[in-house]
Amino acid sequence: MEPVKIGLLGLGTVGGGTVSVLTRNADEIARRAGRGIRITHAAAKDYNPDLIKGIEQIDKISDDAFVVVEDPDVDIIIELIGGYSPAKELVLKAIENGKHVVTANKALIALHGNEIFAAAQAKGVTVAFEAGVAGGIPIIKAVREGLAANQIEWIAGIINGTGNYILTEMRDKGRDFDDVLKEAQELGYAEADPTFDVEGIDAAHKLTILGSIAFGMPLQFDKTYTEGIGKIEQQDVLYAGELGYRIKHLGITRKTANGIEQRVHPTLIPERRLIANVDGVMNAVLVMSDAVGPTLYYGAGAGSEPTASAVVADVVDVVRALTTDPENRVPHLAFQPDALSDINILPMEETETAYYLRMHAIDKPGVLAEVTRILGDSGISIEAILQKEPAADASFVPIIFLTQRIKEKNMNDAIAKIEQLDAIDGEVMRIRMETLG
Ligand code: HSE
Repeated sequence: MEPVKIGLLGLGTVGGGTVSVLTRNADEIARRAGRGIRITHAAAKDYNPDLIKGIEQIDKISDDAFVVVEDPDVDIIIELIGGYSPAKELVLKAIENGKHVVTANKALIALHGNEIFAAAQAKGVTVAFEAGVAGGIPIIKAVREGLAANQIEWIAGIINGTGNYILTEMRDKGRDFDDVLKEAQELGYAEADPTFDVEGIDAAHKLTILGSIAFGMPLQFDKTYTEGIGKIEQQDVLYAGELGYRIKHLGITRKTANGIEQRVHPTLIPERRLIANVDGVMNAVLVMSDAVGPTLYYGAGAGSEPTASAVVADVVDVVRALTTDPENRVPHLAFQPDALSDINILPMEETETAYYLRMHAIDKPGVLAEVTRILGDSGISIEAILQKEPAADASFVPIIFLTQRIKEKNMNDAIAKIEQLDAIDGEVMRIRMETLG
């Protein structure tokens, strides 16, 4: 049988890895897919052929990606350009031309996935996006297929390798934020715009996708709460450690009686949890489901060949399904398109979590009582208090509170009142806390 012909858009970090993996493992991949898979046409403007093993096996390389999606010989397009435009136009054009699409572009899927999937369904083609979430970890397949028997209760994931690398280096080596970020960029982990990593936007793209396939709802990136790691200070990492916690940048989506919580923010988690020990650029996703209970997925969340691993696995899936009836393929968002529900995503103020609070207080009698009264009046129960001795020349002492679970709205009100106290200096640092039990 003729090999399946691939049009590859992008020969950067992931594109180069995809060429290497597809050519190096060609025989095994063909035995799995049932047909050979061949990159017949690629598109890239800037690339270094010396860095891409197997590039000589690509029949043709154009500098215009639209030429590839218009190439009538190409069966499947792999989109690895990233960004919103022209990626969206290219993917829609490929679909219009009856081609299947494999993409690692989480931003594109999170923002435009509903439109793209509708177009694909109308044309009877597949858009596969495993590489978009947690790099090489097959988490889309696990949630969409492996957990299909379950009601999913919540998902919590370390889904940005760059952010996890920064937090790990800050904790283990006391390194400076900017210095670690620069290194992550040099290693090819960071997004083209690294604010996507440190401000949580990249994680929010991925969480939006996970929430939709977990709970069967359309993609709603604009309703995903997003907070980055830029405000985390070395002292918070240390205090969290003293209290038995690690700070991780988590994406959390949870089904509650009132709707879905969908939030990305730094989070204290007990250090005894396996996921608390996921360090460096590694990712991990913890899924709580009603039948199987907790399952944990761990692996490289970024990088050339780890991400290529997911891209190529998607290509194999598409090839295996080429001759199947489009109506009987795995639905893009795990649930049949006409069975997606308009379940409500809760505003952040309505979500519920526990908290770590750090404040600087004048060292005088009664201050602690004032703060605990405000917390009590807001219905907030205190789990632990840590007060440090003031430094030799300092007039303020750091006080750390751990609280029980409470609505974000109550905590906002309490923090506003605490910050108005004369005895409190500056802003209260708030980090959300989850036991993940
Ligand atoms: N910038 C992303 C990360 C790459 O650091 O996880 C993988 O999506």
